[in-house]
Amino acid sequence: MNFEESSVFIGFGNMGSAIVNSISKKNIFNDMLVIESDQSKTANNSSKKIRFSNSISEELSDHKYVWLCIKPQSFGYLAKEIKPYLRSNQIIISIMAGITINQINDRTNHEKIIRIMPNTPAQISKGISVWNSTNNLSEIEKNKIENALNSFGKSIYLDDESMINLSTALSGSGPGFLYRILESFIFAGEKIGLSKEVSKKLAIETFIGSAELINITENSPKNLREAVTSPGGTTEAGLNLLEKKEIDKLIYEMMKEAVKRGNDLAQESDK
Ligand SMILES: NC(=O)c1ccc[n+]([C@@H]2O[C@H](COP(=O)([O-])OP(=O)(O)OC[C@H]3O[C@@H](n4cnc5c(N)ncnc54)[C@H](OP(=O)(O)O)[C@@H]3O)[C@@H](O)[C@H]2O)c1
Repeated sequence: MNFEESSVFIGFGNMGSAIVNSISKKNIFNDMLVIESDQSKTANNSSKKIRFSNSISEELSDHKYVWLCIKPQSFGYLAKEIKPYLRSNQIIISIMAGITINQINDRTNHEKIIRIMPNTPAQISKGISVWNSTNNLSEIEKNKIENALNSFGKSIYLDDESMINLSTALSGSGPGFLYRILESFIFAGEKIGLSKEVSKKLAIETFIGSAELINITENSPKNLREAVTSPGGTTEAGLNLLEKKEIDKLIYEMMKEAVKRGNDLAQESDK
């Protein structure tokens, strides 16, 4: 096994499995070990490129990149479990919301740390990840991670780690927020008299089509909105109500709540 080309992933839940499955489709690491305590989550994975284990062991030391894909609430316990096996030439990569690089360093005594915030479209390689790292990583190591992140979507390196908590509230939680808005579209469609089935189909296709259009045309959201808003027309009538109800304020407050929760998670992990 080539240590430089190896990764161990702890946690194969929603995000961990999305990341591992995308990375495994590219030739980024030649050895991938997944450690997941819940065997029902790994039972159906038949990839020949991934090995599975259900507990932390000395094998962890053999892998250069140690990905923490567990819930922030599990970190305190996990840090104690992995600490005896960490070697100074390894790199910890955390996807945990809210947990800072300093906190990871405090709990593990480890010096080389990367923090990333992916999002769930990573499941279909359409994610967007932001990341930051300690400044003791080589360009080769950073390129390796950038390639890994780009296997499940796009990525942006942020120089200021505090921006990760803010991005978490936008792109990390964003899919959840957008799905909630989609639910409202479906609900409202039914309320105005469409069948549930038709409402759902129209709402979903409208979301997909609008997202693809913005991607392809490179027009701003404002330009695209203006293009469908004829003076005195139906779209304008609906938009006027959104403005009256202060949609910007509502979305801003929603995002502030997510930022606050991210900060709380970091504090809870310190206890
Ligand atoms: N889901 C998202 O949208 C999203 C987006 C960006 C970032 N994240 C971050 O991604 C992380 C994972 O989220 P998730 O939704 O994928 O969580 P999840 O589905 O609960 O997955 C975590 C997995 O790790 C396992 N695990 C916990 N401790 C372990 C240990 N000591 N050894 C082996 N396996 C262990 C858990 O097993 P048990 O269930 O048995 O404990 C669970 O299967 C979180 O920190 C979250 O902040 C999530």
